[in-house]
Amino acid sequence: MSASSVIVVTGGASGIGAACVKHFVRRGDTVVVIDLPGAWKPERMGVPVAAVYEGDVTDDQRLRELVDIIEQKHGAVTGLINCAGILQHRLPPEQLTMTEWDRVIAVDQRGTYLASVVFGERMAKRGAGAIINIASITSTRSVPLHAYAPAKAAVLSITQCLAAEWGRSGVRVNAISPGYTLTEALQAAIDRGDRNPDDLTSQAAMGRLVDPSEIADAAGFLLSDAARAITGINLPVDAGWLAGSTWMTYGGIPPARART
Ligand SMILES: NC(=O)c1ccc[n+]([C@@H]2O[C@H](COP(=O)([O-])OP(=O)(O)OC[C@H]3O[C@@H](n4cnc5c(N)ncnc54)[C@H](O)[C@@H]3O)[C@@H](O)[C@H]2O)c1
Repeated sequence: MSASSVIVVTGGASGIGAACVKHFVRRGDTVVVIDLPGAWKPERMGVPVAAVYEGDVTDDQRLRELVDIIEQKHGAVTGLINCAGILQHRLPPEQLTMTEWDRVIAVDQRGTYLASVVFGERMAKRGAGAIINIASITSTRSVPLHAYAPAKAAVLSITQCLAAEWGRSGVRVNAISPGYTLTEALQAAIDRGDRNPDDLTSQAAMGRLVDPSEIADAAGFLLSDAARAITGINLPVDAGWLAGSTWMTYGGIPPARART
């Protein structure tokens, strides 16, 4: 993709989305953010984005308005990164209300699909574009997050279905599955004592968290011409959590070898 690319990042005000925004601004792209009202903090970001639009990815009408506004003002959108997402509290199913379940599905699953369709149908008509859906390592594993994990599994299915739908129309659709990524939200959860950093890192092959910039680097690759034959994949960026998380059954991951 050339320096004149127009990239839309949903959920670009924070965390992984913000790291993607920085990555593509530095690369010289026109970067447009869609996020909830009040989410964008210009003083925190300090990067010259082309525009920030208030929008909720669950709101069909607003997203359809935004695609018109963005394409009129900034040109044809060539890349979309769906980072908007919410977590859920860890609750047994008996305590997880259907209201919370519906909300997680609405944002993480439906919102990802809706934004993909609203922007992707324009890309397909022009015969060019690339979409990245941010899924999660939980999309392929059992975890005690009974709304979030199924929603993220659906994101992988959405990715493959749309990749096949638009493959001959020049639109590539891929997913990235971040492992535990040290965003401000995760840092706050660690600071509050809600998450134990050792629990997050002990099962990763590399024994560490992922930095948000490492997700952005992968997004940079998947939106670039270097990935021109890649569509419908799920790229885990997880410091080896998927590879290492079953080793507990065998006593855990071995320590680093002594260096000579
Ligand atoms: N941080 C991690 O460890 C991790 C791991 C795996 C997957 N993920 C996924 O990465 C994505 C980004 O997560 P993050 O950790 O950067 O979280 P974050 O909370 O820092 O960022 C999420 C952004 O999405 C926005 N958002 C939330 N609901 C929205 C809505 N309805 N419409 C528009 N914007 C909305 C928020 O305002 C925020 O700016 C999410 O999909 C999350 O599930 C994160």
